[in-house]
Amino acid sequence: MNREQELLVAAEEKKKQNAVNIAKDPYYPLYHIASPVGLINDPNGWIHWKGTYHLFFQWNPFETSHGSKFWGHVTSTDLVHWKEAPIALAPSESFEKDGCYSGSAIGVDNKLYLFYTGNVKNNNERESYQCIAVSEDGFQFKKLGNVLDVPSGYTAHFRDPKVWKQGEDYYMVIGAQTLKEEGCVLLYHSKTLMEWENLGVLADGFGYMWECPDFFTLQGKDILLFSPQGLEADGIHYQNTFQSGYFIGDWQVGTNQYIHNSFQELDHGFDFYAPQTTEDDKGRRLLVAWMGMTDGFEHLHPTLDYNWIHQLTIPRELSIKGNKLIQSPVEELTLLRAGKVLDAIVEGQSEAKLARASEWIFYPEGKGAFAIELFNYFKIVYNQMEKTVTIYRDRLDGQGTESRTAIVENSIKEVRAFVDHSSIELFINDGEVTFTSRIFPKLDQNNMQIDGNGKMIIWNLEK
Ligand code: FRU
Repeated sequence: MNREQELLVAAEEKKKQNAVNIAKDPYYPLYHIASPVGLINDPNGWIHWKGTYHLFFQWNPFETSHGSKFWGHVTSTDLVHWKEAPIALAPSESFEKDGCYSGSAIGVDNKLYLFYTGNVKNNNERESYQCIAVSEDGFQFKKLGNVLDVPSGYTAHFRDPKVWKQGEDYYMVIGAQTLKEEGCVLLYHSKTLMEWENLGVLADGFGYMWECPDFFTLQGKDILLFSPQGLEADGIHYQNTFQSGYFIGDWQVGTNQYIHNSFQELDHGFDFYAPQTTEDDKGRRLLVAWMGMTDGFEHLHPTLDYNWIHQLTIPRELSIKGNKLIQSPVEELTLLRAGKVLDAIVEGQSEAKLARASEWIFYPEGKGAFAIELFNYFKIVYNQMEKTVTIYRDRLDGQGTESRTAIVENSIKEVRAFVDHSSIELFINDGEVTFTSRIFPKLDQNNMQIDGNGKMIIWNLEK
C-alpha cells in the first residue's frame, strides 16, 4: 500500500469504529452534516456539478483536534438528504503532508477540479502550496500538485483558493498575510487553470490574516466574503474569537479595482466561520458555513466523549436587500417537516413542547417585545425600544451565561428557527439577521417558554 492508500484505509476504519458512538450520542445532529469521527471544520469545494450537489469539508479523522486535514465528501440532490462519498483528498504527499487545507471546486470540460492549499510545517516553519486535483466522475481525484507559490512580500499564511470562471478567463481569490502581518485578499488570473498571474491586492485594511475568501456577483453587485482574524471586540461587534463577513461593492473585471462599502458581519451567533458559496443550476447563490470556530472552548464540547466534534450549517440562499446580505434557509428544508405539532395564537406567558429536531416560526403581533426560551438553556430576547435581539446560552466552562446582540433595523415580522439536537439557527425576517449557535441543553429538557403575543407554529423534523 502506498501512503495515500494507508491513510484512506486508516481513516475509513476510524469512521467505521466510531459509528456505534455516533448512534449513541444524543447531541449528534439528525439533518446537519457533522463529523462521523474526529474533527471537521470548513466547507470546501461546494458545487452543483452535473445535477448533484457536492460538498467537501476539512476533516481530521484521527483526533478531535486540528491536525493534518483530509477532504471529506458528501453529495445530495435536494440539499437536505446527504450521502457519504469516499474521502476525496488525504494528505499523503510532501507538499501537503500537514494538511490538504481549504479550497474550492470548478467544473471544466466534463472534469471536476479541486483547488486546495497544501500545508507543510517543519519545526514550526510553515510552507504553503496551492494545489490541484482532478476527477472525471466527481469521486476519484488525481493530484496534479502545486500550481502557485507564495509571492514575495507575503508570509506562508497564504491559503484557501476560491476559483471561478468569468467569460473566457479564470480568477482566484486567496487569503494572505503581508510580511508586516496584515491580512488581505489577493486576486489571480489564469487562462489555463495551471499558470496564474498575480493581479495584486483586491482588499485589505484590518486584521492580521484573512481566511477563506469568496468573491461573486449577486444582483449586479460584487460581494467579497471572508473570515478576518485579529479584529478587536467593539461593543456588540466582533464578539467571537474570529469573524466572518463581507463587503458589497463594484469590481472592474480583469483588474484588482474593487470599490466597496464597510465590513459587515454575516452572522451574530456564537458559532459561525469560514462560509463558502456556490451558484446552483437554478441560479441561486447558496452558502454553507462551519458551525464552529478554532477557539479556547473546543476541548469542552460534550461530543468529545463520543469522539467527534463540529458540524456545518444548513444551506442558505443569499440575496441583497438595501446594503445587506440576506440569508434565507433553502426552500428544500421544508421536506424535513414531519408533522405540525403546534399552530396557535399565544398571549402573555405560554409554554410548548419542543422536540430536539424541530423547526418553529414565531410571528409576533404588532411591534411588541418578546422573549423565547428553549430547554431552560437558550434564550432569545427582542427589545423593540432598542431594536435589538439578544441571544443567551450557558457557557461551556460553567461560568454563567454568555450573550450576543444584533440590531434589527426593521420591525420583526418573523423569527424562524432550525433546532437539531445540539444546534440552533435563527433567521429573523427571513434572514435579515441570523444567529447560528451550538447548544448543549440538559437531555431531559423539552420545553419552550414564550413571553409575548403572536402566532407560533412548530414542526417535528424527520429525515
Ligand atoms: C479556516 C482555516 C483555513 C484553513 C483550514 C485548515 O478555519 O484555518 O484557513 O485552510 O481552516 O483546516
